[in-house]
Amino acid sequence: MCGIVGLVSKREVSKILLECIRKLEYRGYDSVGMVCCDGKDICTKKDIGKIDEVDKKVNFIELNGNMGLAHSRWSTHGRTTKENAHPHTDCTGDVSIVHNGIIENHLELKEELIKKGHKFSTETDTEVIAHLIEENYKGDLKDAVLAAVGKIEGSYGLGVVHKNHDEIVAARNESPLIVGIGDGENFICSDVPAILKYTRNVVYLGNEEVAVVTTDKVEFFDVNGEWVDKKVEKIDWDAEQAQKQGYKHFMLKEIFEQPRAISETINGRLDDSDILIKDEIGLSVDEIKKVKKIVIVACGTGWHAGLVGEFMIEELTRIPVEVEYASEFRYRNPIVDKTTIVIAISQSGETADTLAAMKEAKKKRAKVISIVNVKGSSIERESDSTVYTHSGPEIGVASTKAFTSQLVVLYLMTVYFGKVKGVLPQEQVRNRIRDLRRVPLQIQSILEDSDYIKECAELYYKRANALYLGRGINYPIALEGALKLKEVSYVHAEGYPAAEMKHGPIALIDKDMPVVFVATKDDRTYSKILGNIEETKSRGGIVIAIITKGDKGLKEKVDTNVHIPKNSYILTPLLSVVPLQLLAYYIADKRGCDIDKPRNLAKSVTVE
Ligand code: G6P
Repeated sequence: MCGIVGLVSKREVSKILLECIRKLEYRGYDSVGMVCCDGKDICTKKDIGKIDEVDKKVNFIELNGNMGLAHSRWSTHGRTTKENAHPHTDCTGDVSIVHNGIIENHLELKEELIKKGHKFSTETDTEVIAHLIEENYKGDLKDAVLAAVGKIEGSYGLGVVHKNHDEIVAARNESPLIVGIGDGENFICSDVPAILKYTRNVVYLGNEEVAVVTTDKVEFFDVNGEWVDKKVEKIDWDAEQAQKQGYKHFMLKEIFEQPRAISETINGRLDDSDILIKDEIGLSVDEIKKVKKIVIVACGTGWHAGLVGEFMIEELTRIPVEVEYASEFRYRNPIVDKTTIVIAISQSGETADTLAAMKEAKKKRAKVISIVNVKGSSIERESDSTVYTHSGPEIGVASTKAFTSQLVVLYLMTVYFGKVKGVLPQEQVRNRIRDLRRVPLQIQSILEDSDYIKECAELYYKRANALYLGRGINYPIALEGALKLKEVSYVHAEGYPAAEMKHGPIALIDKDMPVVFVATKDDRTYSKILGNIEETKSRGGIVIAIITKGDKGLKEKVDTNVHIPKNSYILTPLLSVVPLQLLAYYIADKRGCDIDKPRNLAKSVTVE
């Protein structure tokens, strides 16, 4: 959740650290802090607020030194106060640390340390680590960190500096931590966009690994202090991709990037009559034929993608699918075994609940395939195989392009499984591929109409509530539309299957309640959804409808309509979600919300 950056260099580091931590503000943004060390003194500045607010107050670049750490916090243990903001220190003030994660046994450790005379000055779980390092320090910082992490239970991405050492010691367990190999300087960070301007060469720390980072060298160790050989990997995103490029917000930029992102997701995975993902899926034809059930685990927007995936997979492959909230999965003794494939969907690849669900599935001998955007992530490493979404860095907290790319991967997997199982004849495979190839340009055409959606937002942005309704494969899109609105505009919104309206939500409908229908034309649920629209109108509700281009009849019935191009039913969600993303964005913008950093949310939730 929290953002971490560290740098050891031959030059002054505070300005660079400030620039880098700004790139990670989407991870956490209730307080921020920095520590720098110039070989003699170690100085810290921190406070509550967003990075720019705090910087105005404390002026981070006044900190001197060639080595430092910065942290942006998303509170877990301890209120949002200046004292609880990172970095944290020990009794002597010589040690300074930044941490992302949760120390589960911090209360016991704190009690022990207090008995030994340590004085605590914050309410955080993190502070125990600083005191443990102090307790175990005998002149070697790495050894002290190893001894400290040996005592803690829980998750940590950790950066440590000490007044008397020209090095950062970094450690990781279940919380991402990356080492960036620069030119005459080296970095640590919790997420690659932080350091992309300076280097694209990175090493991903594994669980229970420690790195000792100096200006010209990085060494890696396991928790027993044994030397570990690590591979340097090259990031294929560049710094420009992670910038706003003239858009007012990352969310808007990422919505508009969808045609390109989806093209990247498809790229190299299709020919005219085949889906080329066999190696990525990592299952033999025989294994696929033996699959009895697919379980999809995910959180948030990924879970909505899973619901669409359920529809796609069951429809085209006839393999039964269950979609589970990752956070609930392992608490109900799930029925999975070696004939089950578990698909974990995660943009960040770091969501703690999803990771825990995968581990549970692996314990029960299921094969775990992940759909992930961020390479080198924990979820990727925990999976038997990974199919990347390749949608490029997603910075806006509300997920948009990652969602549509996840749908594309699910579609590719569906058609591939259908073909391998022999339930999708060759001609259908060919048609399905042709349909998918039309999607990027179709999304482009929706985006070109975005001014119209902006006008629609202007009509409704003052409303306090909204209802989103859809049926069939568009029911998850109603959920996703409502989630987007809640996340970025703080308007209360509910997504519902349209037919369920009459069992409750209909009581909410009056002249102040906008109801957003995903009412695309198909031969399954369209006539039924027309009925639901009538029911809403006759109770005075305002109807905004996502309709299929050319549907004149429906256009005349509703208060506001947004049309989308026609494609096969199974691909409609990729199109119908786009106007809903834009609607949420423009409503939030009109309401003056901090769209890329919505209150209380974090981009990747690395705590359970
Ligand atoms: C957070 C984000 C959501 C995201 C969810 C799952 O709640 O704010 O946008 O959908 O986590 O994240 P993941 O990285 O696993 O897809």
